[in-house]
Amino acid sequence: MLVFSTSDKGGTGRSVTSCNIAFRLCMGGKNVAYLDFDFGSPTAGALFEIGAVERGVSNGSGMHSYLLNENETPARFDVRAKSDRVELGRMPTRSGKLVLFPGDEGGAEFPTSGTAMVDQCVKLLSKVLDEFHIVIVDLSAGRSAAAQLVLEATARPQLAEKTVRWLIFHRWTRQHIMAASSLVHGPSGLLESGVGYGHGEKKLRESIRFIRTAVPNPFTQPGNEESAQARWLLKQNAALKKLASTKKLGQSTLLGETPMEPMLQWREQVILDADVDAKIANLETTTAFGELARQLTDDAVWETF
Ligand SMILES: Nc1ncnc2c1ncn2[C@@H]1O[C@H](COP(=O)(O)OP(=O)(O)O)[C@@H](O)[C@H]1O
Ligand SMILES: [Mg+2]
Repeated sequence: MLVFSTSDKGGTGRSVTSCNIAFRLCMGGKNVAYLDFDFGSPTAGALFEIGAVERGVSNGSGMHSYLLNENETPARFDVRAKSDRVELGRMPTRSGKLVLFPGDEGGAEFPTSGTAMVDQCVKLLSKVLDEFHIVIVDLSAGRSAAAQLVLEATARPQLAEKTVRWLIFHRWTRQHIMAASSLVHGPSGLLESGVGYGHGEKKLRESIRFIRTAVPNPFTQPGNEESAQARWLLKQNAALKKLASTKKLGQSTLLGETPMEPMLQWREQVILDADVDAKIANLETTTAFGELARQLTDDAVWETF
């Protein structure tokens, strides 16, 4: 299964959430590849705490070089073996593998994706799909060349029959809801561009779900249900829900949400069960990541609505 993680804005929690979903899937026994297609900021290595590739790989063997046809063997890092955080490698025996394909250090956004790059992308995605159950591709935000590239690649016959799922990340605010909606439904959005590349509109639409990240809990202190702040937050929440459903981001297209997590406000990382046991991260957060991983792989969730 191919999973494309994207968002209209930056700082939506797309990478952090995707890494944590990847980790949960791996713990559940799936072999997972994580491809860093955030070409302007290839920092997935930092999330998995692989010091050597925090800002991408430095020897010209990253995703940029592969797509530019400058290197045929993309660098890959076994996260469980290579992470500086050794606890990350300690997983149940039935766990799968988790492999990061980093971008190139200093790599930049591509202005456009030409046919040669689409050819390389098709080859890469086909190859990783042969080896892994789930391939998560963290895309550059917005109407980016990265998004166009994979839309075009997945319309090609070699990939057209593969299971593809899109995750659109957004914060729980007015601007984020409008931006996420526009990225999917707006002019030159994913649907319009996808149809232009030959995707069926209905199938593509049904392959897209939204994820709300870092949703604050109005009741931060027990017993403050009647406080002015809690009442205000609840009112905003109701207004946002209404806006989301008019912008086609309502319940039926929502895969799930993650709570505001202090650990992630301070540091981008994979949250381990050990962090919850040590009481430095909230159980609600790891539960949300686990639930997102489950929903992502549950075919029933993705049937026609
Ligand atoms: N559930 C959450 N609670 C609090 N902060 C979060 C949460 N999810 C992500 N963040 C933080 O938000 C910031 C942006 O997340 P990131 O994954 O880098 O976004 P993007 O990839 O969309 O640019 C990071 O500092 C990250 O740690
Ligand atoms: Mg990111």
